[in-house]
Amino acid sequence: MDWDEWMSEAARAKAEFATRIGATAADIAVFSSVSEATSAVAIALDFGGARRTLVVSEAEFPTVAHVWLAQERRGARVSWAAVRDGVIDAAVYDSLIDDSTALVSSCHGYFMNGFLQDVARIAARARDAGALSFVDAYQTLGTIPINVRALGVDFLAAGNLKFLMGIPGIAFLYVRPEIVASLEPTVTGWFGRTDPFAFNNKGLDWAPTASRFDTGTPPVINAYVARAGMAIVNEVGPQRIRSWLEILGQRLIDGGRARGLALHGTGDMTGKTSTTAFVVRDSHAVEAAMRARGVLPAARGSVIRLAPHFYNTIEDVDRALDLLAEVTGTT
Ligand SMILES: Cc1ncc(COP(=O)(O)O)c(C=O)c1O
Repeated sequence: MDWDEWMSEAARAKAEFATRIGATAADIAVFSSVSEATSAVAIALDFGGARRTLVVSEAEFPTVAHVWLAQERRGARVSWAAVRDGVIDAAVYDSLIDDSTALVSSCHGYFMNGFLQDVARIAARARDAGALSFVDAYQTLGTIPINVRALGVDFLAAGNLKFLMGIPGIAFLYVRPEIVASLEPTVTGWFGRTDPFAFNNKGLDWAPTASRFDTGTPPVINAYVARAGMAIVNEVGPQRIRSWLEILGQRLIDGGRARGLALHGTGDMTGKTSTTAFVVRDSHAVEAAMRARGVLPAARGSVIRLAPHFYNTIEDVDRALDLLAEVTGTT
């Protein structure tokens, strides 16, 4: 045991995450998954008053949607922002958000096809209606510059398994400092206290920072790996990464079309990440066939998803497309 070093590492990992999103370490809580982070936000909300509606995008990763649906037992009502042709028209939110809205949950990048939502616009609409905004940035952090202050969001959650180049078992939550004092996440623990090491079992004092969302002993080992991955992304630089991924993403769109593959969602690189999906007949069989030949795509329902990162090359993208076309018989 080395509690001092463990606590320091958890704090350093929070700080590295904060750097990535333009926040400070005090605005960050640590969890073992995005599901837990989302539940922590949900349990801090009160659905007993006039604001009972949760506006949830149909592009949410299932786990996030499940957390919001589970709140219906606590008096909430989920209202869906519909996905059409693999994208969501931002104007859909305008008609859904009103003075009964408690929170708007809109993922930044769509896990199916990389479609990017204008979360700044959605957060502004939520704020104007007196509602909170929650963003799952798991599919975008590490691929594109993100500044939570510029976006104006109240909560942003992400894990480290994907483009942050970490491992499963750790995730972070940003809470806008101006709202922290108004929230009491009642799934809690000693790390949610002002001083966890006061060992006071009869005092429920809420930490003044986002730390009030922390619960038990943080996932310390995972924090080391997560911080190392985030440090690489921060060192390379999100803007440089985005510039290269725009080239690889465009290559995927153009190369997919040239090979007769059916693109899922938008073909406009300004509105998507490099993650690009193609509609295929049996996505799991296609994934297995490609993996057997050394290319690692992801089967997601009716699509096969290709998600290059900054270390990938044009040749990697062409090889993946050639193989996908061969396996699906378009060439
Ligand atoms: C957008 C998004 N959110 C959340 C998750 C997973 O969340 P959790 O950390 O709870 O497993 C994923 C995993 O694929 C994801 O793509």
